[in-house]
Amino acid sequence: MSRSIATQPAIGNDLADPAPSAGHAVLRFEAVSKTYAHNAARTLLRRGMLSWLTRSRTSVFYALREVSFELHAAASLAVVGANGAGKSTLLRCATGISAPDSGRVEVRGTIAALMELGAGFHPDLTGAENVMLNASLLGLTRRKTCEQFDRIVEFSGLADFIHEPLRTYSSGMVLRLAFSVAVRVDPDILVIDEMLSVGDIEFQEKCVGEIKRLKQGGKTLICVAHDLKLLRNLCDRALWLEHGRVRMFGPCSEVVDAYEAAPAPGVSD
Ligand SMILES: Nc1ncnc2c1ncn2[C@@H]1O[C@H](COP(=O)(O)OP(=O)(O)OP(=O)(O)O)[C@@H](O)[C@H]1O
Ligand SMILES: [Mg+2]
Repeated sequence: MSRSIATQPAIGNDLADPAPSAGHAVLRFEAVSKTYAHNAARTLLRRGMLSWLTRSRTSVFYALREVSFELHAAASLAVVGANGAGKSTLLRCATGISAPDSGRVEVRGTIAALMELGAGFHPDLTGAENVMLNASLLGLTRRKTCEQFDRIVEFSGLADFIHEPLRTYSSGMVLRLAFSVAVRVDPDILVIDEMLSVGDIEFQEKCVGEIKRLKQGGKTLICVAHDLKLLRNLCDRALWLEHGRVRMFGPCSEVVDAYEAAPAPGVSD
């Protein structure tokens, strides 16, 4: 998925990433809010009629509230927070899967997102066919995909299974294929939502190496994970979300230290 933006003057924002040498912001959130209906089940006809008859109202709550930050090229951002804090919602707004209710999201360049295991894949197609499908969904031309095909399969370590249908793959194998395609698409921004934990230690190490290679090449990473050790290893910045608000944004080690030291809030609501 890719969206481009016109060049804008830098916003005056406390949360701005200060790295000046990295040039323009590749991702900017400006007072982004996203709301959901608190009791979505009420949208069912029977419940809807009941709530209309009893005049009870569906309450709206903020999954993201006034979130502002910006990231420069070659930055790597960890997003941390309790279950329900808004991390995936933030990634969905960044990738254009969801639109914010208010505020602005600006993206410069192409994004490859690993958000949900199996998204962009078809269970009845073989691994090889899914490589072609997924790469084209991520914007790679057929010719480029054919050129990269052997490297994708080699990186995935799935050569022996590449002509088997995807439905026979384990979760870790699907992740291997998805990650291998995403990095070969060579996105400007790579977004990963909790997917790395599905891989075994050997593949996780390969992923870390590949992500570091992308970063050295000036690419930007946004990573959500509950594995804080992994985030410390991969990321230089971190954003801590609490009940949809930015609690802290800054150097990864400082933010993750503070997050670890804070009392567990339980699931955000
Ligand atoms: N499509 C939706 N409809 C209604 N509510 C939603 C929807 N998507 C997310 N939410 C709600 O928004 C809040 C934030 O959800 P989100 O998935 O962003 O949390 P998260 O930080 O990624 O949590 P986790 O660590 O469990 O993955 C939660 O309360 C969740 O129930
Ligand atoms: Mg999530």
